[in-house]
Amino acid sequence: MLYIVSHEQDFAHKARAAAAEYLDMDDPEQIALTDSTTMGLGTIYTGLNIQNGQEILTNEHNYFAQQEAIKEATLRTGATFREVHYYDNIDEVTEDELVHNVIKEVTDRTRVVGATWVHSNTGLKSPIGKLSRELAKINEHRDEENKVLLVVDGVHGFGIERDSFEELGCDFLIAGCHKWLYGPRGTGIVAGTPAGWQNVRPVIPSFSEVMWRIIRGGQQPERVTGPHMSPGGFHSLEHTWSLPSAFEFVKTLGGKDRIYQRVHELNRLCKEGLASMPHVKLATPLDDNLSAGIIAFEVKGMSVHDVVQHLVNKKNHRHRSTVRQKLRALHARNLQHAERNRDRFGRGEFFEIDAYIEKLLQSPR
Ligand SMILES: Cc1ncc(COP(=O)(O)O)c(C=O)c1O
Repeated sequence: MLYIVSHEQDFAHKARAAAAEYLDMDDPEQIALTDSTTMGLGTIYTGLNIQNGQEILTNEHNYFAQQEAIKEATLRTGATFREVHYYDNIDEVTEDELVHNVIKEVTDRTRVVGATWVHSNTGLKSPIGKLSRELAKINEHRDEENKVLLVVDGVHGFGIERDSFEELGCDFLIAGCHKWLYGPRGTGIVAGTPAGWQNVRPVIPSFSEVMWRIIRGGQQPERVTGPHMSPGGFHSLEHTWSLPSAFEFVKTLGGKDRIYQRVHELNRLCKEGLASMPHVKLATPLDDNLSAGIIAFEVKGMSVHDVVQHLVNKKNHRHRSTVRQKLRALHARNLQHAERNRDRFGRGEFFEIDAYIEKLLQSPR
């Protein structure tokens, strides 16, 4: 206990500093520490100062956690939300089309655009930088309380893509660190701009320096920062404290550029292989600008369950339990996505693979 009390601020600062450095941000105070992407989304949307009469604009392909966080925020505040039709046909989608389909729906009521960097149901990567630059043009004509904030679920880009926070240009980038960054489970970050943070309030009181200040009878700080927005409590602190090692690991692999190149190279190989199979319909675009590390496809004439079973039956002894776990998770998740995307993708039965599972598919042992 004494150890925690005497070290927690310092260790939390080191975790924030490592995340800030990774995103090329000058100030670690603009990073909040969370337990997951889901916690980050809930923290931002629930803490958002959105008013009755304003709206959150989003699209129909986000992961459940973002949609629910948005819905809850609107239920609490009387604001509304709208899902824009993001694209017509994923086979022909372009970055410009995606940006256009969001921007054309922005109205005077729009206070937030909720986006996903890489969609987990299709592997489509959104052009966040382009979108933020278009929103910046709209914001030039708005006063501070009405500026459109861009909130991004970045979990499937974080750890693969190489954009800095500034290049992304969003107000909030929300990610778990236990996925592509290979950090410990129960870790996540929200990166925010100094101006962006002034639009949210903490939902869960912070155990940061702010707490000590308030306990000692001080006032709430005038400006909200990442530490202030980091949910407090004696949670899995050891995991958070070891987070800097995950960012160090990125460096030992050769840094963000090298990881980007490698993941894209492997995924391109895998996608080209899948696209060449007549019985497979690839959903994820081949274009590196429109994809990252997730690949989604369907196998003609087979249900998701059958495809999963087929892969499990390949009986890779070394990795079987990992594959089972992964496929089970994918199966559950994609059934849900399939339901939502039924019209858009015909039979709507998709599941995602990474290069590892693709290897299993093609080289049974
Ligand atoms: C797009 C997306 N966002 C958020 C999450 C939830 O991530 P976390 O486990 O960090 O809460 C997932 C889960 O896979 C996801 O696919």
